[in-house]
Amino acid sequence: MTKPRVLSGIQPTADSFHLGNYLGAVKQWVALQDSHDAFYCVVDLHAITMRHEPELLRRRTRIAAAQLLGAGLDPDRCTLFVQSHVPEHAELQWVLSCITGFGEASRMTQFKDKSAKGGADASSVGLFTYPILQAADILLYEANQVPVGEDQRQHLELTRDLGQRFNHRFGATFVLPEAYIPPAAARIADLQDPAIKMSKSTSSPQGIIDLLDEPGRIRKKIARAVTDPGSEVRADEAAKPGVTNLLRIYSALTGEPISALENKYGSGGYGAFKKDVAEAVVATFTPIREKTEKVLADEAYLDQVLASGAGRAGEVARRTMDTVRDRVGFVPRMDRGDR
Ligand code: AMP
Ligand code: TRP
Repeated sequence: MTKPRVLSGIQPTADSFHLGNYLGAVKQWVALQDSHDAFYCVVDLHAITMRHEPELLRRRTRIAAAQLLGAGLDPDRCTLFVQSHVPEHAELQWVLSCITGFGEASRMTQFKDKSAKGGADASSVGLFTYPILQAADILLYEANQVPVGEDQRQHLELTRDLGQRFNHRFGATFVLPEAYIPPAAARIADLQDPAIKMSKSTSSPQGIIDLLDEPGRIRKKIARAVTDPGSEVRADEAAKPGVTNLLRIYSALTGEPISALENKYGSGGYGAFKKDVAEAVVATFTPIREKTEKVLADEAYLDQVLASGAGRAGEVARRTMDTVRDRVGFVPRMDRGDR
């Protein structure tokens, strides 16, 4: 029996992933390697939709890939690649952009948020079409499932709409993907402001735990995390958003249900609880950081992993794009073996 396929992507826009990225996405990516035919890409094309420094992008792309290997992706069990190594992503994005409504693209909340921050005039057309490129990433690989955090749900809906529209107009071509969102860790909040999500663009350094943070920093940040009045460790999104966030983090890291944690800590105050949360994060992140550093020290190995991933991804992408060109009505290029 063939395994269902997953595809996901992550942007190389920071020097480290954070706890939200890890619990919302990366941890699921690792878990899905054996049950699924898994494709994971570092989306450097998406990373240039905001102003960037070329050398920094190159470095962060390698750091991103190294962290994914550090977190447990195994190049023998999944296909790990860099988006720009497979030109079909950009090619399919163009075709899909021609069946996307302007109003439809204008309704994407991530675009509205990001463009509001810099002022509408400062946003590029690339930022506007970002979700269409994401749809291309997914549809190219005929992915059945897409493991992402809650904030990506709308982009997944757009992807399905575009896939369906293309199939309807040009004949069955694309598989329509489902979002695969971990219920417990769909949205990890900022440690200093539990009303907002943990995010590299909006969180303060104290509100965010980086995957590559040293244990001392992790302990300090969790000790200083905003908690709520009272002393009871109980999940209550309205009255205790800070404690609820920490419960969610602890539960997602250890696999212990939140109800069991509530029983364990009860009304004994926040101190012991926070300490244990910090140790759970340290225990998970330390081996990942060490492995990431090892991978980064051997750039030739890393680049070779990415080249072989791009080779495998490219085969699938070329096959899909071949069908798309044919369906859309482009003349086949004979010296390329187009049909
Ligand atoms: P990004 O850093 O925006 O490329 O996000 C990478 C992945 O992490 C996506 O699947 C996001 O949905 C997920 N993610 C980002 N922030 C959070 C968060 N605070 N909680 C849960 N998942 C998140
Ligand atoms: N937009 C996603 C994010 O911000 C990143 C992404 C790009 C992605 N292409 C993708 C996620 C394809 C899943 C599938 O997190």
